[in-house]
Amino acid sequence: MGAEKFGMPTVGIIGGGQLGRMTALAAHRLGIAVVLLDPDPYCSAAQVVPRMIVAPFDDPEALEQLATSVDVVTYENEWLNPEQLGSLERQGYKVRPSAYTLARIQDKFFQRTDLQKAGLPVPVFAAVDSLADLEAWVVEQGFPVVIKMRVQGYDGRGVRIAHTRAQLVDAWAALSHQPLLAEAFVPFTKELAVMVARSELGEVGAYPVVETVQKNNVCHTVSVPADIDALIAEKCRDLACAAVECFDGVGIFGIELFLKEDGIVLINELAPRPHNSGHYSLDACLTDQFEQYLRAIFGLPLGATALHSPAAAMVNILGEESMHLDLKAILDFDVHLHWYGKPESRPGRKLGHMNAVGKDPKAALAKVLAAHQRLGFS
Ligand SMILES: Nc1ncnc2c1ncn2[C@@H]1O[C@H](COP(=O)(O)OP(=O)(O)OP(=O)(O)O)[C@@H](O)[C@H]1O
Ligand SMILES: [Mg+2]
Repeated sequence: MGAEKFGMPTVGIIGGGQLGRMTALAAHRLGIAVVLLDPDPYCSAAQVVPRMIVAPFDDPEALEQLATSVDVVTYENEWLNPEQLGSLERQGYKVRPSAYTLARIQDKFFQRTDLQKAGLPVPVFAAVDSLADLEAWVVEQGFPVVIKMRVQGYDGRGVRIAHTRAQLVDAWAALSHQPLLAEAFVPFTKELAVMVARSELGEVGAYPVVETVQKNNVCHTVSVPADIDALIAEKCRDLACAAVECFDGVGIFGIELFLKEDGIVLINELAPRPHNSGHYSLDACLTDQFEQYLRAIFGLPLGATALHSPAAAMVNILGEESMHLDLKAILDFDVHLHWYGKPESRPGRKLGHMNAVGKDPKAALAKVLAAHQRLGFS
């Protein structure tokens, strides 16, 4: 195998979706070899890696085979069993972010609890074990409330907002096959996010604050720099760095924030991996989030996080029943297309994204939205 022959550092990536693919592409640039683990031989990342183990994420033999072939094991999604990663660590393999970090972040209740203990601001929340529990909590808090799956929610699946008792009962019926978290609805004026890298050696690098817009609770657009006061931006970056420290995180983390009218910032959640709100960095920052991630987990110096253009924006391309990519049409626009090569389109599935830079965030956003519209999206 090439990696062993040339003595290249090697990363093992568990999960072959778009985040695994973009991490693998960054690894190639840095001369880091990649071994991928995913059950689907046709997954997005499979197309860009020469070495792949085709097996379920929880297959102990496959995990061990991966760990023995690489210098660092990492993962592109947080729905792994931390016990299994911990067992690899106990055998002396390096897993980043660590099994501990994953265990505390993957459960939104543990995550919130740790952030609160560290004195960081989060929405009012409670774990709820029964509808009676939930109703009692709502009597104290009042409507509206947000009900969330504690684990395995993503892209807004597993999040319901209830304004009435009937909606609360519906939400409970839809989600209660899983442990749930209830939280106060935050009347935010903006949703913001910050990517933070923290290296093996404790070096920390925070990216500019972005503004995200969700449609149906799914990230639709990102624009940067966020149109907020400089002091608030500084507070967001400080909070994001403190949140990563609180979990002793090594790697790259997406920190989602709510900004309220009174200037108060609350932490919504952390993702222990590259994040959709950081995709803009591929075409707008001196070091993109995927390269930074690899630098962090290999203990290499972190790169500069600043924008190299005044502003940038990103729009997601979500799947429909069938999807034909009109490359000629998109490439007529001043945008960078990142297509994930997923084996099939499904409604709502993230199939790609487009980035643009501009003189200000509005101008950059107008560019990506024009190209998005040309694809037939409204
Ligand atoms: N407490 C809250 N108050 C107001 N809105 C909320 C609250 N919690 C979640 N939301 C809305 O729902 C969206 C999705 O929620 P959350 O980020 O918790 O779920 P998720 O499925 O893990 O998200 P993703 O994977 O898209 O980041 C948020 O971006 C926000 O728009
Ligand atoms: Mg979220």
